[in-house]
Amino acid sequence: AGIGTRSRGESSSVSSTFFSCHLVLLCLVLLLLPPGSPQLSNLYPHCTTGYLSPCTTGYLSPSSRDKSPWHFHYISNGQSLAFSPDSGEVWRARRRLAQSALKSFSIAPSPTSSCSCLLEEHVSKEAEYLVTKFLQVMEEHKSIDLNQYLLVSVANVICAICFGKRYEHEDQELLRVVDLGKEFGEVAGGGHPTDFIPPLRYLPNRTLEAFKDINRCFNAFVQKIVQDHYSTFDKGHIRDITDSLIQHCQENGAGEDAHVKLSDEKIINIVNDLFGAGFDTVATALSWSLMYVALYPDIQKKIHEELDRTIGRERRPRLSDRGTLPYTEAFILEMFRHSSFLPFTIPHSTTKATALNGYYIPKDTCVFINQWQVNHDEALWKEPSAFRPERFLSASGTELNRAEGEKVLAFGLGRRRCPGETIGRWEIFLFLTTLLQQLHFSLRPGEPVDITPQYGLTMKYKKCEAFQIRQRFPEKSSL
Ligand code: HEM
Repeated sequence: AGIGTRSRGESSSVSSTFFSCHLVLLCLVLLLLPPGSPQLSNLYPHCTTGYLSPCTTGYLSPSSRDKSPWHFHYISNGQSLAFSPDSGEVWRARRRLAQSALKSFSIAPSPTSSCSCLLEEHVSKEAEYLVTKFLQVMEEHKSIDLNQYLLVSVANVICAICFGKRYEHEDQELLRVVDLGKEFGEVAGGGHPTDFIPPLRYLPNRTLEAFKDINRCFNAFVQKIVQDHYSTFDKGHIRDITDSLIQHCQENGAGEDAHVKLSDEKIINIVNDLFGAGFDTVATALSWSLMYVALYPDIQKKIHEELDRTIGRERRPRLSDRGTLPYTEAFILEMFRHSSFLPFTIPHSTTKATALNGYYIPKDTCVFINQWQVNHDEALWKEPSAFRPERFLSASGTELNRAEGEKVLAFGLGRRRCPGETIGRWEIFLFLTTLLQQLHFSLRPGEPVDITPQYGLTMKYKKCEAFQIRQRFPEKSSL
């Protein structure tokens, strides 16, 4: 009820409404000010996300992406689950499909290994490979920039789930695609002048052309794999998410959304979103985690001690170790909070007029949720700029304080909240514990490191080639 259903074409034709004063002001303010800027709330109260704690989410729900920035329609040919203005039944049916496909190929049991589920199998394999790769690069170059290796390893996990495929770390095609993810985030995260000034859409525009190119290349990469899947498809042997979506197309829809008519393109394109959203986010989280352990050796020591005490050296970490490593889990929460590397959610729009904290937000207003600000709000956190995992532990320091953990905003809010949250959290836990069980991370002494986040859909620190890695237990274990 009350869900905005105007199509993108219609909304362009009523541009005077679309570019109503509040939207333009809101977006400009967001472009001009850094996330968390204290002036934000004074200048434009609708963005005052300090009040948008998870417990107030209800006020903005249900929300859609009906008023998304205009340049989003270049993403996935306008068929993206995450960025298109689809709402109502079509969006719901696609989201259910995405969630069920993710479940079937990640948390379902592995038929061929002793791992608890397919995700554990993929991550353990990639993390183990990463350990060897890091040590090999260290041996050759004496220092390392971690990010490309993290990206490829994490991309391999989502490739296994979506496409049943693994790439070598030197594979140029995959390297180009993971690079595209970075370029994509720079435009998608920052907004584009054509979103606010429609006549600019008809003038030559280099950034927009580059953005179209990025999307074309990304789609071509996925479409090639999809075509291969069509030509080898066997309905008796569903290999991965792409196969399961093809099967759904061939069965002409089934289950509780059978009455919703989805084109094959809308079904198959779900894999673009899952693949696209599934690697840069998790790789960025790991990249920040390893930067924090290198910057705070005492914290790294505590994680090492906890891993040694609880898991030891005789076996590798498993997903079932979650819940037994409170300090490590507190560290991951603090990494999410302190870095807030996804400073804003994807823009939402209000589907009905809403009153929030005494402010009136009209229907069809584009709303940006400032996660960074919530995670650094002095009313919610003591000394928010300090990196202190202990803030998520009980007074005795032996248990995770789950209520505090729930205050951290990283996966968005409301019904557009990230559907990959469980997978993302599990991946980060398993990659990190596997790496830290075996490796020690530091930075080349005396070399200044700039961790100022670079603005984008996901914020990263500046390229850092000063990482040093050593094996914790040099005698090669037989695991
Ligand atoms: C650390 C890991 C991750 C973080 C921090 C993260 C964060 C987010 C955020 C903030 C949003 C926007 C939510 C909103 O607008 O309120 C989002 C949306 C989304 N994420 Fe994630 N994500 C992560 C991992 C993943 C993974 C692994 C997948 C898939 C395999 C995924 C798939 C998606 C999709 C499809 C959407 C769009 C949902 C919709 O519009 O209905 N994400 N994510």
